Amino acid sequence: MPEMNRFQRFFVNWSAARRAARRYRWIRDSVEVPDGAVCLEVGCGNGEFAARFVDGQHPASYVAIDVDPLQLDEAERTLRTRYPNGTPSSLELKRADMLNLPFPDAAFDVVLTFVALHHASPTHHDSSRVPDALSEIDRVLRHGGLLVYSEIFHKEQIRRWLTDRGYSTDGFQRRFRLESVISRKPSPTS
Ligand SMILES: C[S@@+](CC[C@H](N)C(=O)[O-])C[C@H]1O[C@@H](n2cnc3c(N)ncnc32)[C@H](O)[C@@H]1O
Repeated sequence: MPEMNRFQRFFVNWSAARRAARRYRWIRDSVEVPDGAVCLEVGCGNGEFAARFVDGQHPASYVAIDVDPLQLDEAERTLRTRYPNGTPSSLELKRADMLNLPFPDAAFDVVLTFVALHHASPTHHDSSRVPDALSEIDRVLRHGGLLVYSEIFHKEQIRRWLTDRGYSTDGFQRRFRLESVISRKPSPTS
């Protein structure tokens, strides 16, 4: 998948703080994140959401990945500004590809991904690799864990993929073209 160009990167990052605040409030008010949760954010962009979530929920650990080193540079800048005395030890930035997540099975209680799933394929309107990204997320998410995502593309396909695998919906929000979903992976007994 191609990295974003300079213009796309600027456009994605300039309003990220506002979006992150809105997303964080919605999640906080919609679902209880388990104490001591181990969290993964896929396609973290400039890191605004990661910082907000870590400050608000105090997870045991929060790994924020992005495939684009320039986005990770932005995220490092965000964290340096927000935490002049040092980034919380629970928060880690890592370069990784959503199609090949470098984590063991069932490693996370919560996986979050905002407007990133459609980047799995070479072009936004091509949904062919989105199931591969969902399979990787499903692999690293424990049973009963939460997948929180927002998307503007391939929304029905993503919902269907999750429903077919027994995921239930704990929260849903639509805002213009953007659909945000809190989805729970079934437990083996459910
Ligand atoms: C539209 S931006 C959204 C960024 C951030 N989540 C936000 O809402 O501000 C998509 C992000 O996904 C990242 N991305 C694209 N392809 C990826 C891949 N294969 N694996 C991980 N991250 C990827 C991009 O570099 C970019 O930071």
